[in-house]
Amino acid sequence: MKTEVKPPENIVLIGFMGSGKSTLGRELQHMLGYELIDMDQEIERQQGRKIKEIFSESGEATFREMETTLLRELMAHGAEKRIISTGGGVVKSEANRVLLKQMGYVVWLRAPERIILERTSRNRDRPLLDQDDPLQMIRELLAEREPLYAGASHLQVDTGGLDVHELASGILECARYFFSNPQSHA
Ligand code: S3P
Repeated sequence: MKTEVKPPENIVLIGFMGSGKSTLGRELQHMLGYELIDMDQEIERQQGRKIKEIFSESGEATFREMETTLLRELMAHGAEKRIISTGGGVVKSEANRVLLKQMGYVVWLRAPERIILERTSRNRDRPLLDQDDPLQMIRELLAEREPLYAGASHLQVDTGGLDVHELASGILECARYFFSNPQSHA
């Protein structure tokens, strides 16, 4: 008899800084009771330093390697059901884009530029935007990354019009359909 290997049923949130991944991740965790892995927080915990320090002391390339290592560790856990909230630059690496899709249902959260600017200017924790003209940087990075988010995701969600509970409910419906329908994994 053929043994079916079940693909992992994680819900993976991707999207630009300030697109609402952490807030939505917490809402999904609340609704589903799944473990929530916030990749930035997990890397900070493993490293014992803040992302800002990792960037300034070790450089962005090293941080990207840490992201890939963490994705591989999460994959090694097999078919657990978790919510994984990623850092906005995780899609820069092709290896990561492939891993993300193998991990489960990948949801790309989108927010308008002005919301991203407003949310990210509340603190200076994001080294890539800690500069004189963050809006210009947001525009450049969005132009570079939007095609990557598109290619790495199964679902694209505009976060502007709905509250977080409505968004999470809609995403859950889509995820249930995806996981119940093996053809959709192609
Ligand atoms: C980054 C996004 C950040 C964090 C790091 C780099 C990026 O995560 O991983 O500052 O390159 O877009 P958030 O998207 O959670 O802010």
